Amino acid sequence: MKNKLIAPSVLSADFGNLQRDIEMINNSEADWFHVDVMDGRFVPNISFGFPVLKAIKKHAKKFIDVHLMIVEPEKYVEEFVKEGADLVTVHYEACTHLHRVIHQIKDLGAKAGVVLNPATPVSLLEDIIADVDLVLLMSVNPGFGGQKFIENTYKKIHQTKALIEKYNSNALIEIDGGVNQHNAAKLFEAGADVLVAGNAVFSAENPATMIEELKK
Ligand code: DX5
Ligand code: ZN
Repeated sequence: MKNKLIAPSVLSADFGNLQRDIEMINNSEADWFHVDVMDGRFVPNISFGFPVLKAIKKHAKKFIDVHLMIVEPEKYVEEFVKEGADLVTVHYEACTHLHRVIHQIKDLGAKAGVVLNPATPVSLLEDIIADVDLVLLMSVNPGFGGQKFIENTYKKIHQTKALIEKYNSNALIEIDGGVNQHNAAKLFEAGADVLVAGNAVFSAENPATMIEELKK
């Protein structure tokens, strides 16, 4: 087990009180900020873009993980890095030239990750696993917070771990969607390094305590 990181998803924050929710994350045991960008094309929902990332960056004191659920990410990665992304992840399904985009992100000085939708097989990462800093496995179909965790994800964690070992890659494994206090420990045990949590954290009576619980 390499890591046990928690990345609260700002998508579930109260946008009217964004600074308050960012401070909560700053003062909690959370490790990263997870920032979900949706374009209404790659996913059937629109979230937010550069100005909101800029506002988050202004107050955030932790690593910023930007998850791009957009088509043609190569057009926008430079601006996302400029506005504060420490890590940019792009969807395998959205990139015709994935190798180029991954190296574009790295050349900008950020960490680069690839995301797989629930129905996209891990085996497709064979020729990119050595180049990425992180693999993000979607455990729901992207687009919305608060969905039910897809159990097949455990199998994909094992497959990703095997691929990482085969190619001597340093990639971290991140899980996104439906993570809660009932599956977090099991996911870390299966080999996840980073867990994203939106609804579980922000709908909790005490979000900071929930973050602690997810980390245990
Ligand atoms: C889904 C997003 C997730 C989402 C997770 O498309 O990528 O990051 O915010 O939310 P929960 O934890 O509520 O499933
Ligand atoms: Zn996400």
